[in-house]
Amino acid sequence: MKYKILITSFIAVTVLLVACKKDDTEQQANTSAVKYDPTPYTMNHAGFPAPPIADDNLLTIQGVQLGRMLFYEKMLSGNNTQSCGSCHQQQFAFTDTAKLSVGIHGLLGKRNSMTAVNMAWNTGGFFWDGRANLLRQQALMPIQDELEMDETLDNVITKLSASKTYRDQFMRAFGSEEITANKIALALEQFMNSIISNDTKYDKYRRGELTLDSSEERGRVLFFAEYNPSFPELSGADCAHCHSGPNFSNNRYMNNGTKSEAEITDIGRQGVTGNINDKGKFKVTTLRNIALTPPYMSDGSIKTLEEVIDHYNNGLKESTTLDPALRFTREKGLMLTAQDKADLVAFLKTLTDYSLLNNTAYSDPNK
Ligand code: HEC
Ligand code: HEC
Repeated sequence: MKYKILITSFIAVTVLLVACKKDDTEQQANTSAVKYDPTPYTMNHAGFPAPPIADDNLLTIQGVQLGRMLFYEKMLSGNNTQSCGSCHQQQFAFTDTAKLSVGIHGLLGKRNSMTAVNMAWNTGGFFWDGRANLLRQQALMPIQDELEMDETLDNVITKLSASKTYRDQFMRAFGSEEITANKIALALEQFMNSIISNDTKYDKYRRGELTLDSSEERGRVLFFAEYNPSFPELSGADCAHCHSGPNFSNNRYMNNGTKSEAEITDIGRQGVTGNINDKGKFKVTTLRNIALTPPYMSDGSIKTLEEVIDHYNNGLKESTTLDPALRFTREKGLMLTAQDKADLVAFLKTLTDYSLLNNTAYSDPNK
């Protein structure tokens, strides 16, 4: 009898203790509940003008963090094997090394991967043909592209909603646990806007922190100087005619003569505008980190920077939409000597930003 009472009270006490403990943890969870946190994210864009960030999606620390998680999230793809980061790898300045990118089914995409750096200054549309006007529109396209990640937005939402980590992060970033396609797009836009490359040798030279060596300096002058067929000695390569501004892009679509009329199978910008005058035109891409992103051009058809220079020097092909400034150089070519070509390549290599490659703010948060 005595024992029975003892055992019963022991059980009662234990139950009470366990119950208390449970209450405690619940209470703790409630007091430390994740909250909306709109602390702004500071973009370090020294050397660049203030980026034109959309008023309705200003960067916050939590929004950028969510975008970063999503950028490296394989659940965004149909068989959970591929993330944005698979084709936009930090070590290659956010491109891959393939001629044409390979999607989740092992099928080749139609074009060469593009760098996702300095998107904040990209004011002329996204993709080689500019078919996405805003980064937030661009961000949802690879997910649904059957040659790329081949997943539905509904499935992505279902998969992410099952994760407490994601529900919490959506709460911190947007003030609600509810996951929507729009919020996914906005978070990816924030993260990509946060990826900045402004610390190359060339940037340091511009800030007066170092001098370029003699080859790089001659290459720099050639890059920016105008073409002049009458005075070969003074004539430049005029690359900055199109690759201009702090990001080395005029944000326009042009034909740089990699194809003859008959060879143009990818109509590029024409596919978006329907305008025959846009046939075979592609985005003038940034040349930042260009040494890290071979092969080159929208079709990945040029393997090295030396061959790119040869292309502009005397390899331009005629077609109806070939840029007039380039056509003007066709008769005599750019008249570059072997030294000039080497100097141009040396200059292009000063556009590599090694700090970008190791910046942990842009890396996979799970690694
Ligand atoms: C299978 C490889 C692959 C995957 C996965 C992929 N991309 Fe891309 N990305 C590309 C290719 C190829 C292009 C150029 C496509 C074109 O122009 O048609 C591109 C273009 C872009 C651009 C345009 C850059 C510019 O200068 O206009 C951005 C931004 C981008 N991708 C972000 C993303 C995001 C965000 C994701 C994940 C949601 C993603 N990509 C997933 C291969 C990929
Ligand atoms: C008339 C405008 C124009 C001029 C001038 C020009 N480019 Fe380009 N460049 C483009 C366009 C457009 C593309 C993209 C074409 C494509 O992908 O099919 C491009 C692409 C490139 C690429 C490959 C980019 C990548 O991400 O794959 C490099 C490298 C390049 N240009 C370097 C140069 C150099 C060096 C010069 C000067 C010798 C120069 N460009 C002159 C318009 C121009």
